[in-house]
Amino acid sequence: MPNVPSDSPRGDPHPEPPRRVTMQRRGPILVDGPVEVELEDGTKVFSDRFRVALCTCRRSRRYPWCDTSHRERA
Ligand code: FES
Repeated sequence: MPNVPSDSPRGDPHPEPPRRVTMQRRGPILVDGPVEVELEDGTKVFSDRFRVALCTCRRSRRYPWCDTSHRERA
């Protein structure tokens, strides 16, 4: 078994590859799916898409999913 670097408290290797999260300066956060998102009020929403765009601007009419409203001029 290859020596897999880990940041887990016990030093155990992760059983699965890490989930990729892509940060962008202006725009959504891209997360490899499937994902479950818990909102501030405790509501949980789920997406089984290959990649999910999470809204960071709060303009989306489909929040927490990005609907590209961040591209509109203020
Ligand atoms: S980041 Fe795209 S609509 Fe908010």
